[in-house]
Amino acid sequence: MVAALALRSGGIASGATSRLKGVWNHLRGVQTLAETRGGLPNYYVLPSGDKIPSVALGCWRAREGEVGNAVKTALKAGYRHIDGAWAYENEAEVGAAIKESGIPREEIFITSKLWNSYHYPEDVAPILEDSLQKLGVDYIDLYLIHFPVAFKKERTPEGKPVADLELTENTYATWQAMEKLVDSGKVRNIGVSNFNIRRLTNLTSNPLKYQPAVNQVELSFGNPQPELLAWSKKNGILLEAYSPLGSTEQVKQTLQIPEVVAIANELGITPAQVLISWHVQRGTVVLPKSVTPSRVEQNFQIFKLPQDKFDALEKAAVSHPPKRVVDPSGAWGVNIYEDQ
Ligand code: A2P
Repeated sequence: MVAALALRSGGIASGATSRLKGVWNHLRGVQTLAETRGGLPNYYVLPSGDKIPSVALGCWRAREGEVGNAVKTALKAGYRHIDGAWAYENEAEVGAAIKESGIPREEIFITSKLWNSYHYPEDVAPILEDSLQKLGVDYIDLYLIHFPVAFKKERTPEGKPVADLELTENTYATWQAMEKLVDSGKVRNIGVSNFNIRRLTNLTSNPLKYQPAVNQVELSFGNPQPELLAWSKKNGILLEAYSPLGSTEQVKQTLQIPEVVAIANELGITPAQVLISWHVQRGTVVLPKSVTPSRVEQNFQIFKLPQDKFDALEKAAVSHPPKRVVDPSGAWGVNIYEDQ
């Protein structure tokens, strides 16, 4: 209401007006989502009050020439959350697809991520600008520190990145630059990705202006991370599940897991839908990636699993040694997850 009155009153400096207009449109957009879908949460509420849709289209490994069509298919199917990153090298095509969809930008929750090469505080705002420009938007809903690893400006003679171990261990300076992005109105929420409990506790032991709203991590049947999930819930940090089907390397095996196939057959849904639903039922955002239109559509349909089936799946997932798909620790010279 305040925003509406202010917009009508005129005479406000144009920067402030456009910020108010953005807030107002935002309230009309993402905020009008239905509360549940298939008996599961359709969104979670972030500390800012913003609603983050529980199922997003994941854009990692979606190549240029494919990703735009996937985004358009997703938005047509009802997705309102697109998970991307500067490092995926496809933000321009994602942005163009969002525009072409005709859906107001404010109705779509857009995530991007700060790449490792831009952790020095002075580099944070300029590289966000690059993402904003490529996406063709004037704000991002959620901006994450992509990895708890800061790269130095110089590379090895072979062209390999070199980690700045001091800035990697003490992320606070980078975080303060992220907080400034919120104050500038160009980012609505900030968070991290690939952080373990120790690294998050290390960051949040500083006097933060904004707490990390989200931690995006690899979560799947193969790597379910029950301790991190329980800790995150207790500490008010929402987890987002990337590679939720096991990514390219593991998806085939994951969709053939007997427990998953049995539940799919009993409920008359697909194994992918069982797993995507399981993630939401665990209380996380889920980011399935697909560039295949029928799969993009299928992956958006979630269903609350009967409690005994959910419990059986959870038990099966946590009863085998965890296996990650994504671990660049060796290449970057940093033990990222510190779990092996
Ligand atoms: P594609 O993009 O060719 O459709 P994750 O979400 O865990 O990262 O997994 C992504 C991989 O899973 C991609 O290879 C994607 O293939 C495939 N995939 C996504 N959704 C489905 C589905 N519903 N059924 C089978 N494979 C899928």
